[in-house]
Amino acid sequence: MMKKIMNQYINSFLASFILAVSIFFASCGPTEKELAIQSGKETYLTYCALCHGENGDGKGKLAIGKMPAPANLTLTGLPDFAKREIIIKGGEAVGRSPFMPPWGQEFTEKQVDDLIVYLETIKKINLKYTK
Ligand code: HEC
Repeated sequence: MMKKIMNQYINSFLASFILAVSIFFASCGPTEKELAIQSGKETYLTYCALCHGENGDGKGKLAIGKMPAPANLTLTGLPDFAKREIIIKGGEAVGRSPFMPPWGQEFTEKQVDDLIVYLETIKKINLKYTK
């Protein structure tokens, strides 16, 4: 008898605990960083994936026959300021391939910021650079 009551007590305690935890997580919307990653990803898939590949490996549909090939963005060692520069000004302006288009006219500053945040999430190496 006592055991049954105890079990009921534990069960209802567990049920309310699970409910409280799920309400807590449901009430936390996406953070600012998550929103930036999401918007960066959308921009990336729309404008960059054709050359750099959907997962950033540099093997997009338009990459075939390009010399030099679009960079593998999962392995890039470029620090953020240099990524920002080549994205805004294009490859030619920074002494690289003219196949990398300039995007400065196309994107808002926020879009470029979000792209940089997103690019950080697809990197397979995690070296520290002094910026
Ligand atoms: C038409 C093809 C094409 C498109 C579209 C394109 N890129 Fe590129 N990108 C290139 C090529 C080619 C290079 C390599 C340039 C070189 O090595 O001289 C490059 C290089 C880069 C680099 C330098 C990486 C490194 O490690 O040196 C970054 C960063 C980059 N692209 C980002 C982007 C982003 C972000 C977009 C979308 C907004 C984009 N690219 C769209 C072709 C493209």
